[in-house]
Amino acid sequence: MDGAFFWLGHPVVFRPGETFAAAMRRAGLYDLGSAMGTLRGRYFCGIGACQACLLSVNGAAPVEACLTPARSGVQVTLAAPPALRCIVLQADVLVVGGGPAGVAAAVDLAGMGWRVLLAEQRDRLGGAVHRAYAGVGTSPIKRNSRHERRWQGLLDQVPQVGDRLTLHLQSVLLGVDSEGSYLLDDRRAARVRSVRPKAVVMAVGGVERVLPVPGWELPGVITAGGMQVAAQGNR
Ligand code: FES
Repeated sequence: MDGAFFWLGHPVVFRPGETFAAAMRRAGLYDLGSAMGTLRGRYFCGIGACQACLLSVNGAAPVEACLTPARSGVQVTLAAPPALRCIVLQADVLVVGGGPAGVAAAVDLAGMGWRVLLAEQRDRLGGAVHRAYAGVGTSPIKRNSRHERRWQGLLDQVPQVGDRLTLHLQSVLLGVDSEGSYLLDDRRAARVRSVRPKAVVMAVGGVERVLPVPGWELPGVITAGGMQVAAQGNR
């Protein structure tokens, strides 16, 4: 059954399993305003990479509209920039990305005795390859059972390395400050965390390259990957 949320006080209908972004696009809401600096807020990449679609649901910390399933009755607004209340974390190695490569690296490094901090943008491990199907009914995409077994085996190793591995879910890498500290936007806690590791593993997967042709930043312009996600998962 369809539901509805409120964008800036106006009702937007969504279908079961749709993301906020999919419902807003269907409602013709392409321009999400200017709270993200000079660029307009909008659906662009569809995979959580560009951060152009950040929204706040019921005033909570930002979430990506393209990744977040719509919920009925909630109030949705543009997200505010992260609060710069910085908390310092300790780690030998920072792993960015909780897909199969990032988890494998984190488990191996923690198994060698290093203190590892794994930062993942979503609220669960798995990365884009294990992204939940957002359409209606069961996914038409068949999973490779051998690959699924290996992934489950990897997940089973996470608790085995104990407190040498710390997971920070819903944490997005903002960048590196002038002192070489890596800044993580912890969206669960609504604050920024800083870590200065000895080494960094970037396991963020493949992201298509966007060429800045005139007009690329306009609302309604989306990447080929964004179109693919919209066609696959959001009915
Ligand atoms: S992060 Fe949502 S469209 Fe890019």
